Amino acid sequence: MKNFGRTGSTNLEKLDIQYSMLNTCGDDRVIKGEFAEKGLKMVNRCVLICVAMCLCALLSNCQIEERTKMSIKKEIFGKTADGKEVDLYTLTNKNGLVARITNFGGILVGLEVPDRDGNMADITLGHDTLEGYIKDKVYLGVTAGRYGNRIAKGRFTLDGVEYKLAVNDGPNHLHGGIKGFNKVVWNGRQLQKDEGPAVEFTYHSKDGEEGYPGDLSVSVVYTLTNDNELKISYEALTSKPCPVNLTHHSYFNLTGDATCDILGHILTMHASRFTPVDKTAIPLGNIESVKGTPMDFTEPTAIGTNIAKIKGGYDHNYVLDSAGETLALAAKVYEPKTGRVMELYTTEPGVQFYSGNFLDGTIKGKGGITYNKHAGLCLETEHFPDSPNKPQFPNSILRPGQKYTQVTVHKFYTE
Ligand code: GLA
Repeated sequence: MKNFGRTGSTNLEKLDIQYSMLNTCGDDRVIKGEFAEKGLKMVNRCVLICVAMCLCALLSNCQIEERTKMSIKKEIFGKTADGKEVDLYTLTNKNGLVARITNFGGILVGLEVPDRDGNMADITLGHDTLEGYIKDKVYLGVTAGRYGNRIAKGRFTLDGVEYKLAVNDGPNHLHGGIKGFNKVVWNGRQLQKDEGPAVEFTYHSKDGEEGYPGDLSVSVVYTLTNDNELKISYEALTSKPCPVNLTHHSYFNLTGDATCDILGHILTMHASRFTPVDKTAIPLGNIESVKGTPMDFTEPTAIGTNIAKIKGGYDHNYVLDSAGETLALAAKVYEPKTGRVMELYTTEPGVQFYSGNFLDGTIKGKGGITYNKHAGLCLETEHFPDSPNKPQFPNSILRPGQKYTQVTVHKFYTE
């Protein structure tokens, strides 16, 4: 637009100027448009920067909160009779779930998970003090080994040599013997893993310990993942062929109140078969279908529904349909009052389902609570009992040069 000076400008020109201040055309449009665009871009940029800064602040606050929630604390739990110091590790994940674990016996001392209203409670049976665990005879929360579960008469023959193990359960060997892995002090080490706080325990079991052949180096890693799982990973190496069957022996009560029994818990087992046993709980050697029997948990069933039909209660090895080849869903426990769910995944071929039958009111546990019959349930992921004497069962012999591995995941949520 040509400018002939402002003085004496016509009304039309004035209008044009006003108009041109609102609307630009031609070159002006380009210049003013660029300016406006730049301005707008700047404003946009500022807004964007502000939003980004706010988001960053929010995010880092959340991360700080998560990080501060996520922690590992180590404190002294006590001393054994021979003066060894024992520690208690408290793992907290980013959602506030808590696992307390001690290097005495690789024991899970407590596990706090929320109910459907967000209320946290400890869902495992146990003791408040190290002394409680030193005296314990029912394996509350322990790592059992070298061989979790039973070996008939404490005997087995391997490569033509007969081995005699400690006998500590009637005529049989149970959970590694008189001083199994549940009664020794392990070395502990904190691990900060991406998936959540973790602690590793290692133990060197000497050749001949409890009658077992070979030096065995064992490690157990407990990880409390940020996906609300308690993951337990085991590894072992041996210097001589030896049966190895490591398992975890927590008694769970998903109500969070061990004065209640677990008969109302709804159990689903991904196992259509089990191993029938003799009077001393040693498998007969055959594998039977659970279909149509009180052993059947292939559909969600309250533990109390048929327990009276099982002499003594459940204490049986279930043969998992997954056959133990990969980490697979083995069982689900649902507690209707609190909505708590525990799913169990394992690489093992079997699960010993034990309904706390031998809890007889003689044990006072955490908070002075008396543990009565069925106050907790165990789901021990493992190879089948007495495998060293049952060649038809999955092999449990570890040989030099091989690495034993076992992974079990307890996943928690509510319904
Ligand atoms: C295992 C066994 C049970 C019992 C408990 C510990 O679950 O199968 O028979 O010995 O340990 O009391």
